[in-house]
Order: sequence, then structure tokens, then C-alpha cells
Amino acid sequence: MTGPDPDAPSGVRAGRLQPARTTPRKAAMSHATTTRTWFVTGATSGIGRALTALALQRGEQVAAVARHSAALTDLHAEHGERLLPVEADVREEQSVRRAVEATLAAFGRIDVVANNAGYGLFGAVEEATDVQVRAVFDTNVFGVLNVLRATLPVLRRQGSGHLLEGSSLYGQSAHPGVGLLAATKYAVEGLTDALVAEVAPLGIAVTLVQPGPTASAFLTNLDTTGTLADYDGTVRAVQKALAERPPDAFSAPERIAEGMLAAADADRPPLRLALGASGARDMRAALEARLAELDEWRAVTDAVDA
Ligand SMILES: NC(=O)c1ccc[n+]([C@@H]2O[C@H](COP(=O)([O-])OP(=O)(O)OC[C@H]3O[C@@H](n4cnc5c(N)ncnc54)[C@H](OP(=O)(O)O)[C@@H]3O)[C@@H](O)[C@H]2O)c1
Repeated sequence: MTGPDPDAPSGVRAGRLQPARTTPRKAAMSHATTTRTWFVTGATSGIGRALTALALQRGEQVAAVARHSAALTDLHAEHGERLLPVEADVREEQSVRRAVEATLAAFGRIDVVANNAGYGLFGAVEEATDVQVRAVFDTNVFGVLNVLRATLPVLRRQGSGHLLEGSSLYGQSAHPGVGLLAATKYAVEGLTDALVAEVAPLGIAVTLVQPGPTASAFLTNLDTTGTLADYDGTVRAVQKALAERPPDAFSAPERIAEGMLAAADADRPPLRLALGASGARDMRAALEARLAELDEWRAVTDAVDA
């Protein structure tokens, strides 16, 4: 293994805490072959399935994590033993740990983890019930943590590996109706901003994958809230506009998968990777507005320490 680049951004430098801005140079795989082993959650549908198929087409091996592995029968028939279907529900930590053990038993290592399983919740923040909010956090945040806790010991032992964390354009921006979905993705982004600097010295890279609107089963699997009339002009107006988007407003999952593969192939992968022009536009607008507001209120900000 080669160690992390000493010039790369680090969480702690010269006694000062600094946010990491990018993932340092990746540690090389320690084994002779270049065939990587992927651990992909949400592999039955959309982005995860496209990524699984693409990695297999490239000759790599994939542990495809699914709640119902029957949905992977066709890929298994096509690619044989390079595809290991493993059943797990990301909400159940023990099932994720068993999936990791099965992957190690079959392939001996894990090189890339695509922490991708997730679903959406649409509606006003006030409308979502406690049960709905806890459920979406259970999959999108606690599920991501279950995968991290199960796979990081393997990557640390190897001294190499790459985590692709499932975020979204809603990891950096939000509009009426997506507050709680965005809350889960912002949570993943926040923990990842720290994680990247914690694991870089251990030879592990991390990339937040931020797709824009993508033509998957995401909208079919979307949970929705009640319909308070006070939110007709905001949440329901946005809902209508979103429903009227033409098909070409959505990226193909296969193209998102290609972007994820490019990150996994990179010697110096990005910490954040926007995939799709419209999502990137929304994130840029949100980030610029945030910076502008920081500047606008600077006098009040600085007066605190004057
Ligand atoms: N589509 C978009 O517009 C978009 C945009 C930005 C980000 N994303 C993110 O991309 C990721 C993949 O979504 P997608 O668009 O590919 O949607 P999708 O087609 O609905 O796929 C979601 C996948 O997650 C799996 N999953 C859901 N809950 C699970 C659980 N508890 N345990 C294990 N697997 C579970 C599903 O498995 P089952 O078949 O068992 O349900 C399915 O394979 C998500 O994290 C999503 O937030 C999507």
C-alpha cells in the first residue's frame, strides 16, 4: 500500500482543525490483480443496478446487496460467479454484517463500497408524520451508517478502499417538498465531511455521489405526506411542476453509474461528485446564495468577536 499524499488536504494541519476539501490520493490496492470487488447496496433497481451491471461488464466482481435477490437472477445468469447476490436490509445491522462476511468468504476483499440504497419522502416538513420521518432516516442515514460500520473494518485491515456515499442534489440544496429527504442527505454529507479526513490516513477514499433527477424507480418508491391546503402555493405547486417535467429532464441511471465508475477509477477522487447538469446548477445556486448571505451579514458576524 502507498500511504496518503502528505500534501493532500487533511482534517488537522499545523494544530488547526480544517475541513477537508477533497479526497487525498488513494492508496493502491495491495493485491496483484486489478480486478476489484464491489459491495453495492440498492443493487436491484435504478442507479445501483446500473452500477452493478457496468462493473460486471468491466470484468469486476460485485457483491450485490438486495432485500430480495431474486431481482438479480438475470444478471447472475449473465455473469456467473463474478456476481454474488446477498440478501440484506440496510436497516438491520446484523444482516449487513452477514452480507459483508458472505462477500469476504466469496471474494476475500472489498475495494469499492457503493452505499447507495435509499428512497424519498415528499411533502411539507410539517405534514410528514413522526413514523414517516423516522422511517426515511432509518434507511437513508442509519442504513448508511450500518454499511459504514460493517465495511470500514475490512477497508482498514486492507489499508485501501473507496466509499461511494449515496447523496443527492438534495445533499446541498432543497426546495419546498423535499425538506425531510434533504435532511437525510445533508446528514450523510455532514458525517462524510468528517469521515473523509478520519479515514484518509488509513488509505481509504470517500466520495459523496450527488445525482440530479434520475430515471429510476425513485418516484414510484416515493413516500408522500398529507395535503394541508396552506402548502398548496409552495409544496403542491412544486409537486405539480416536478410531475410535469419531460422525460429528458431525467438522467439515465447508466450515465450516473458511469460517473461513479469514473470516481472509483480516479487516482485522486473528488469528495463530492455532482452527476447531471440540472442538479449541479441547483447546487451551485444554493452554494452561491449561502456565500452571499455570509458576506452580507459579515458585520454582525464579526461584531461577535470585536
Ligand atoms: N432517482 C433520483 O432522482 C435520485 C436523485 C438523487 C439521488 N438519488 C439517490 O440514489 C440512490 C438510489 O436511488 P434510485 O434512484 O436508484 O432509486 P430506486 O430505483 O428506487 O432504487 C433504490 C434501491 O434501494 C433499495 N433499498 C431501499 N430501501 C432499502 C433497504 N431498507 N434495504 C436494502 N435496500 C433498500 C431498493 O431495493 P428494493 O428493490 O428492495 O426496494 C432499490 O434497489 C438513493 O440513495 C437515492 O436517494 C436518486
